[in-house]
Amino acid sequence: MAVIRVDIAGRPYDVRVGTGLLTDLAAQCGARLRKRQVPIVTDTNVHAAWGPAVEASLRDAGLEPCWRILPPGEHTKSWDELGATVNWLLGLGVERGDHIIALGGGVIGDLTGFCAAVLKRGCHFIQVPTTLLAQVDSSVGGKTAVNTPAGKNLVGAFHQPALVLADLAALDTLRQRELRAGYAEVVKYGLIDDPAFFGWCEANGAAMIAGDAALREYAVAHSVAAKARIVAQDEFETTGQRALLNLGHTFGHALEAQTGFSDRLLHGEAVALGMVLAAHYSARQGLMPQAEADRIGRHIGSVGLPASLRDLGLNCDGAALVHHMTHDKKMDAGTLPFLLLRGIGQTYLDKQVSLDDVARFLDTKLA
Ligand code: GLY
Repeated sequence: MAVIRVDIAGRPYDVRVGTGLLTDLAAQCGARLRKRQVPIVTDTNVHAAWGPAVEASLRDAGLEPCWRILPPGEHTKSWDELGATVNWLLGLGVERGDHIIALGGGVIGDLTGFCAAVLKRGCHFIQVPTTLLAQVDSSVGGKTAVNTPAGKNLVGAFHQPALVLADLAALDTLRQRELRAGYAEVVKYGLIDDPAFFGWCEANGAAMIAGDAALREYAVAHSVAAKARIVAQDEFETTGQRALLNLGHTFGHALEAQTGFSDRLLHGEAVALGMVLAAHYSARQGLMPQAEADRIGRHIGSVGLPASLRDLGLNCDGAALVHHMTHDKKMDAGTLPFLLLRGIGQTYLDKQVSLDDVARFLDTKLA
C-alpha cells in the first residue's frame, strides 16, 4: 500500500492507495469511528457492488453502518439532496467530532464533503473514492460542492477530509469508458509539470486501463502525490498553483455544457479533449511546438478518449462554446484565465487570452 501525506498546514491527512481497503474499512478508519453508528453516504451502483463488503467489515468490528443510498448521477449533487442529507445526519445525532463516510465517485464525495463542511459548522469526513477520477482528483484536496440551475459546482466550500482510502479493487467494477475518462486526469499531471510521467503514460496508459494492477497502483499513487503537492502549496487556489489542476477544464466545461452535461460526453472525456484543444491553441499562439501538441492528441486518442472536436459532431460554432466559458466560475472582471502550455509539463496560467480569438480557433477545429 502507498501512503501519501497531504501536508495542509495544521490539518495534514493521509491518502492510502492499495487493494483491499474496502473489505478492511473498519480497521482502516480505526479510532476515527468512535461511535457504534457509522453514517455512510453512497449511491445505488456503489452500494450494489461494495455495500455487502463494507457492511461485513463494519459489523465484524461491532459497528452499525447507517446507509444513505442516493441515485447515481449529477442530479444528486443538488441543494435539495444537500438539505435532505444534512437533515438525515442531524437525525442520526452526528456530532462535530464524528466522521461521515463518503463511499463513491465525485458526486458522492462532493455532496458528502459539503454536508460535512456545514453540519454544525463542520464535522469530519472520510473519502472512500470508488472511481479512477475520484481517486486521482476529486477526493483529494477538499473541494466540495453542489450544482445549481445556474451551473455546476457553483456553490461549495473547501473542507478537507480526515482520510482518503483509495481501494484499487473498486476500479475492477468500473465500465471501461468510465476508467478511460478518469485516466484523462492522470495524464493531466504529466502535462502540468511532469514530462517524464507523460512519457510513462504513453508507455503504460493502455495497459493500466486494461487492468494491470501494478501499473494502476503506480498511476494512482503518482497522481495523488502530484495533487497533494499542489494542494499543500495552494489550498484555497489563491496563488495560481492549484489553478493548474484546471488544465483542459475551461475548454472541457464548454463542451460539457454544449452536450447538456449528459452521457454523450463524460467529464473526463471533456477534460481529455479540452487538454488537446489547450495544447493546439498554445501551438497556434507559438507557445509550444505543434509536434508536441500533436503528440498529446495522439496519446489521448490512442487510449480511446476523444481527441478531435470534429468527431464530436457538435452543431454549433466557436462563439457558442466561448459563450459557455463565460459562465465559468473562474471569470474575473470580464476576463477568463486559461491554462496554456509552453510544452509538455510546462502548463501556466495565462490571463491575456482573447475570447474572440479562442472562438476563431474553435471555428477552425469544428470545421
Ligand atoms: N479538481 C481541481 C482541484 O481540486 O483543484
